[in-house]
Amino acid sequence: MHKPVSLRTLCLSILLMSSCLQYAQASDIQDAIQRLQRLQSDPELTQQAYAKGEERVTLCSYCHGKDGNSTRDDIPNLAEQNPQYLFTAFEKFATGERSDYVMSKLAKILTEEERVNIALYFGMQKVTKKESERPDLAEQGKIRFLQCTACHGNEGMGGFDKPRLAGQRAAYIRHALNLFRSKDPRRAGSEMIPIATTLSDADIEALSHYLQGLNP
Ligand code: HEC
Ligand code: HEC
Repeated sequence: MHKPVSLRTLCLSILLMSSCLQYAQASDIQDAIQRLQRLQSDPELTQQAYAKGEERVTLCSYCHGKDGNSTRDDIPNLAEQNPQYLFTAFEKFATGERSDYVMSKLAKILTEEERVNIALYFGMQKVTKKESERPDLAEQGKIRFLQCTACHGNEGMGGFDKPRLAGQRAAYIRHALNLFRSKDPRRAGSEMIPIATTLSDADIEALSHYLQGLNP
């Protein structure tokens, strides 16, 4: 006789299925990052991917600029950002770990290959330097930044999946730090949350001015 599936078995299989799915997603991202690294290590492949990326960024240039220097100070620059970070940030919008009205929709419509090419393309652009209008605050920010260098590097260049902050606009840095500090669901689960909760308004202001003017 056919034995009915017990609730326990059903729950176990759903649990197993969902962790397999999560595993599949994680390994897809790893594969894509390895592909990105292979492209970066071969100048000819880099060139091809760059050209394909360039064809697709019309969609992005309205906000992030064709050369990755954003059209508004509260939109992040993508120029010279670490390609691995760009790729993983884009994935976070696709999976819902990060959310933004436009970005969350866009992240779902591009293929993985397109997202890899675009990350490479923007990473190879140059940030336009924009000095802070408040050098006094920037000086204070330089001291506060000593708490951040372990992950973001002495000169704010980040590395791999840690974002470059050097040359990022003050308005965007302020916006991002405020989201982390208030545990805003748009950037839930981020490594930055416990760090940002130690920052005062004055720290955020000082750090934003310092990082905008920092462009080694
Ligand atoms: C309508 C404006 C708009 C368009 C178009 C747009 N973006 Fe964005 N993008 C934003 C905003 C705003 C944010 C910051 C969201 C937040 O607050 O976290 C962002 C964030 C990002 C980030 C994360 C950057 C970081 O420093 O964490 C990446 C990567 C990105 N966009 C890539 C793209 C790509 C690739 C395209 C084109 C396919 C694109 N965006 C099109 C507005 C836009
Ligand atoms: C333990 C490592 C670590 C430390 C220390 C750290 N960060 Fe971060 N930071 C990260 C990671 C990882 C991300 C990307 C997080 C994400 O996308 O959720 C990030 C993201 C950010 C962002 C958003 C960048 C973007 O493009 O959206 C800002 C701004 C930032 N950090 C500022 C700081 C400042 C200021 C400090 C020091 C007070 C600091 N971080 C210390 C790991 C760290």
